[in-house]
Amino acid sequence: MKTGKNIQKPEGKLGILTPGIGAVSTTFMAGVLAARRGIGQPFGSISQMGKIRLGKRTDNREPRVKDFVPIASLNDLVFGGWDIFTDNAYESALNAGVLDKDLLNELKDELSTIKPMPAVFDTNYIKNLHGDYVKKEATKMELAKAVMADIERFKKENSCSRMLMIWTASTEVYVEISAVHQTLENFEKGLVNNDPGISPSMIYAYAALKSGLPFVNGAPNLSNDVPAIIELSNQLNLPIAGKDFKTGQTLMKTILGPGLKARLLGIDGWFSTNILGNRDGEVLDDAGSFKTKEVSKLSVLDSILEPEKYPELYKDMYHKVRINYYPPKGDDKESWDNIDIFGWLGYKMQIKVNFLCKDSILAAPVVLDLALFMDLAQRAGMKGIQEWLSFYFKSPQTKEGLAPLHDIFLQKIKFENTLRHLMEEDLITHLGLDYYEE
Ligand SMILES: NC(=O)c1ccc[n+]([C@@H]2O[C@H](COP(=O)([O-])OP(=O)(O)OC[C@H]3O[C@@H](n4cnc5c(N)ncnc54)[C@H](O)[C@@H]3O)[C@@H](O)[C@H]2O)c1
Repeated sequence: MKTGKNIQKPEGKLGILTPGIGAVSTTFMAGVLAARRGIGQPFGSISQMGKIRLGKRTDNREPRVKDFVPIASLNDLVFGGWDIFTDNAYESALNAGVLDKDLLNELKDELSTIKPMPAVFDTNYIKNLHGDYVKKEATKMELAKAVMADIERFKKENSCSRMLMIWTASTEVYVEISAVHQTLENFEKGLVNNDPGISPSMIYAYAALKSGLPFVNGAPNLSNDVPAIIELSNQLNLPIAGKDFKTGQTLMKTILGPGLKARLLGIDGWFSTNILGNRDGEVLDDAGSFKTKEVSKLSVLDSILEPEKYPELYKDMYHKVRINYYPPKGDDKESWDNIDIFGWLGYKMQIKVNFLCKDSILAAPVVLDLALFMDLAQRAGMKGIQEWLSFYFKSPQTKEGLAPLHDIFLQKIKFENTLRHLMEEDLITHLGLDYYEE
């Protein structure tokens, strides 16, 4: 791993390719274009607005993250991607209904030039969607090669010096890890033999890495978190990260959960329900895709609360997550959490959270930060799983056998210390006894 002055400079254009040009990806792209023109501010983005403390508290050194680490400038970003519909990014953003029409019209000239490439798609993995802008190659290996050819063409046409891929397409059905995922050799054979264990998102992940692109999975489906893809990323010295952008209700859970646990308040039950009406909601209305999302959402609390260490507080907690498709809501998701807690002597209390959120507004800065930090990781020679980016995910990918950290505050410390480490600054332990030494 390179640090400090040895990290390659972010020179030239950075191409960001997203399989899926839907609500999240177009809100991200439009936001970057708006920020670039000074007609919108990138709130929520640590890479753009965050500051990082360096040295002692009394040193008063707190530069902006973007002035501290060598990340790409927004002016150097170029966007592309794939979808099963031919809508360009302007049309897709209008259809998603997240951003105001007036803002989209101001950005129409640039957004309309972002046209999807035909997708690798298979209705066996996403049941509730039907689009015909899809690749027709006969084998999964040929499909991967077609994606690699798209990447190569995009790179030339847009004069990119570096590129990366972020999966922002719909959630695929739940897939169990099987023999085909265990080694790269098995996986490549499976691509040739059209093994049903290999989903479209895995084909994109394989094609990205083979083309020298870091890969991020923003959805909860199995993709780059299989041994074969991890092996490939290590072999090719490329970073990978996932999975499932941490937004909405789960973001709230990872803010509230650590707080309750820190004060050793017990929890009898946590019931979470959501209604949403966008295409994501429609896809999640299918039991297979919902199962994938449910697994991702359920794992969060267990890992924060550690019921095995605190059985009297959390062992019997009833945790339920529901997602219901309700078209009138569009992208304005509404979620309710009912949390039954107990304290001193077992006395019971309740917390109710009613979050009226805009999913894609919360996801867009996450996409931007992940793109910029993954590009930084690549220039710093970091390969394989990037656990320091757990901060952005509902189900952080970690090395096999290593329990993920879900507590957002621990994740933030880990993230900032990694940036300090990269830039050869002292890590911050928050001990601080030295301030009181005479
Ligand atoms: N919005 C959030 O806060 C949030 C948070 C975490 C995860 N996610 C995940 O991000 C993904 C995108 O969410 P969204 O709201 O933008 O959904 P969306 O339905 O608006 O967009 C997804 C797009 O992917 C396309 N697509 C589906 N399969 C494809 C394939 N194989 N190749 C290329 N394109 C394909 C669809 O046609 C659609 O345009 C979903 O998987 C969602 O679960 C979103």
